[in-house]
Amino acid sequence: MKITEEMLSALRKEIVPYLAPKRYLHTLAVEEEAAALGEIYLPEEVNSLRAAALLHDITKRADTETQLQYCRDFGISVSEEDLHSPKVFHAKTAAGLVKKSFPAYADEQILNGIRWHTTGHCGMTVFEAIVYLADYIEATRTFPDCVALRQYFYDGLAEAKTMAEKEAVFTRTMVLSFDMTIRNLIEENAPIDSDTIAARNAYVYRTKQPADA
Ligand SMILES: [Fe+2]
Repeated sequence: MKITEEMLSALRKEIVPYLAPKRYLHTLAVEEEAAALGEIYLPEEVNSLRAAALLHDITKRADTETQLQYCRDFGISVSEEDLHSPKVFHAKTAAGLVKKSFPAYADEQILNGIRWHTTGHCGMTVFEAIVYLADYIEATRTFPDCVALRQYFYDGLAEAKTMAEKEAVFTRTMVLSFDMTIRNLIEENAPIDSDTIAARNAYVYRTKQPADA
């Protein structure tokens, strides 16, 4: 999908009513981070990454009851696992709301970038991983894990010379992000979404050679 600068500047205004002021600033920071990562890893899709970032949290302020209503309205199935991790709903429902209210941006790549930005999943595309990581490390984040992950990524990137080395830094950063998330969930005595475990495994596999059968 061809997304122009004009579309993006209009979209930055259209999303305002959907976001609390602080989350709007976070959203703009995710947009910038996604664009910066996109310039390195997916330069032909930078504007689509910007659009996905702008739309990724548009249902975040809805409470669980409203999230469930969105799920009914948009035909999104709700599993028992979802009910135990209600923070995960907003990623699914934001993708549903984009289809309904922002159809010009409802291509598969953007919808999947939004859909998987919270949990990750097995076999993430580069596009999905950029939206996910941009949300984690954008420059206004102050949570210590976010700051540490951002530092880890950019320190690694500064050392990387070839594209293969840059990709390896990205992969290692993804593993560390899931490690941090999973550790925090354990500390909170919270369930770990099975997609997050599958996502971590998939990135761990990329860092290792498989054992000989
Ligand atoms: Fe976010």
